[in-house]
Amino acid sequence: MPLSIRPAIASDAAQIFRFIRELADYERLAHEVDATEADLANALFGPNPRVFADIAEWEGEPAGFALWFYNFSTFRGRHGIYLEDLFVSPEFRSKGIGRALLRHLARRCRAEGLARLEWWVLDWNEPALRVYRSIGAIPMDEWTVQRVTGETLQRLAEEP
Ligand SMILES: CC(C)(COP(=O)(O)OP(=O)(O)OC[C@H]1O[C@@H](n2cnc3c(N)ncnc32)[C@H](O)[C@@H]1OP(=O)(O)O)[C@@H](O)C(=O)NCCC(=O)NCCS
Repeated sequence: MPLSIRPAIASDAAQIFRFIRELADYERLAHEVDATEADLANALFGPNPRVFADIAEWEGEPAGFALWFYNFSTFRGRHGIYLEDLFVSPEFRSKGIGRALLRHLARRCRAEGLARLEWWVLDWNEPALRVYRSIGAIPMDEWTVQRVTGETLQRLAEEP
């Protein structure tokens, strides 16, 4: 089997950072990346990590990754997984690697009794949406994402 999936280790930090930049380029969001490799290494491999990554290798070469953390559903009273990044390098696409990374996370959910696996996707990202439809993911169209960051976050924090 040319494909294997394993938990990321500290020596993967540079590769994970490269994947993240490639994903940001693909999503036309490279200008929003201000994380450094050290930030990522610290979050993933420092003490008590709260975020995790799986590396997919094709014939021993890094081909893609999934980066995720635990969330919680009060309605279900159980934790779930929030998938922050899913990326397969262009030369390795359409070999089933993306689906295998999602399957790997689904198996973790099953093994750990987690309620949900969820993530965001840009509405124009048709190739990814096709993969998600093919695994039976349900688009949460009635929800919108809210974000407070930068000066707005600062202002809110400073309110008396
Ligand atoms: C979205 C993404 C992760 C999917 O990864 P992938 O490895 O190419 O996906 P898969 O190979 O599992 O499935 C892709 C297609 O290949 C097909 N496929 C799967 N195994 C195959 C095989 N052995 N031979 C031929 N085709 C195959 C699938 O049926 C699927 O077909 P579809 O395009 O008609 O849906 C990848 O394309 C990617 O990184 N894209 C850029 C970044 C991105 O969009 N990330 C997600 C952000 S939310």
